[in-house]
Amino acid sequence: MVYLSQQEVLILGIETSCDETSAAIVRDGRDILSNVIHSQISIHQPFGGVVPEVASRKHIENIPWVVDQAFTDAGLTYEDIHAVAVTNRPGLIGALLVGLSYAKGFAYALKLPLIGVNHLQGHIYANILEHGDIPFPAVCLVVSGGHTSLLLMENQSQYQLLGGTLDDAAGEAFDKVARFLGLGYPGGPAIEKAARTGEAGHVRLPRVFLDRPDYNFSFSGLKTAAMNMWIKLQRQGDKRVDNMAAEFQLALVEVLVEKTLRAARAYEVSSILLAGGVAANSLLRSLMENRAEDEGKKVYYPPIELCTDNAAMIAGRAYEDFCQGIYAGLDLNAQAHLPSI
Ligand code: KG4
Ligand code: ZN
Repeated sequence: MVYLSQQEVLILGIETSCDETSAAIVRDGRDILSNVIHSQISIHQPFGGVVPEVASRKHIENIPWVVDQAFTDAGLTYEDIHAVAVTNRPGLIGALLVGLSYAKGFAYALKLPLIGVNHLQGHIYANILEHGDIPFPAVCLVVSGGHTSLLLMENQSQYQLLGGTLDDAAGEAFDKVARFLGLGYPGGPAIEKAARTGEAGHVRLPRVFLDRPDYNFSFSGLKTAAMNMWIKLQRQGDKRVDNMAAEFQLALVEVLVEKTLRAARAYEVSSILLAGGVAANSLLRSLMENRAEDEGKKVYYPPIELCTDNAAMIAGRAYEDFCQGIYAGLDLNAQAHLPSI
């Protein structure tokens, strides 16, 4: 049984923006009392990627028990909760609408405030959940299946966009190349695994945009170069997919690391945050840490289960809005795309 003092705020978070159905209860934006994540990976795997319509239907089937499990795990009842937070942007529109509709119904029935959360801000907040007070200002690299952005953060909720991808997101490039190499879905973990027995450098892929002084990225060209290289190698009888995976991973990660460090240097910040599914990548984490350490900078990233989609980061991010009384109405809508992060 969880003991609640009068000041404690318990927020139920709901996340259904892509292929994870998740519900969590977080206390005071810091303590994760439960975080249930039901992945649909095995359902989408035969298709080589997420099928949006199937994702929506599976969210409908799973959201009721996932939410109830979050209460059971936390040892709480519906009446203990002070607000309902839900991802309402960005994401697959049908998938978002399932979580949003459920959250609205829950908030209405229990007369609770409803808080709409930006999924990407949730990813960033996973760092606060894990590390507590991070010294700001910081540079934050947000790398997920749909987004790649570099931010200068004044504090945990105020930031400016320094740059982002001009085409594919980093995670998207991992997924597409993995599919082409026959490594399966999701591509990030598949490429990371294949690369473990391989060695980068046997083939050479471009480090795209490293020669440009801005903070933008481009991964579409790297993806095409990797695909063309693999066709050529196979024609020559070279079947070392592990070497190919290792070079692709290094080519992508080196650009992320170098541009992030350049931004940290230019804005004279000593904290670097990693957020989003690709932040689970161990090469990205270790390369960023090693290079940052040489410059007296510290790198923060969430544990793997908080890097990929989860509702704890959504409930956590909503705490500040709750404290400021920023609530949504029942007319809150879902948004598939955002003009900026
Ligand atoms: O944040 P996330 O779970 O969902 C979105 O908001 O998009 O990110 C999913 C992305 C996928 O593209 C997946 O391949 C990638 O994160 N990913 C990884 C790793 N784990 C997940 N990429 C590289 N290395 C990993 N270990
Ligand atoms: Zn995500």
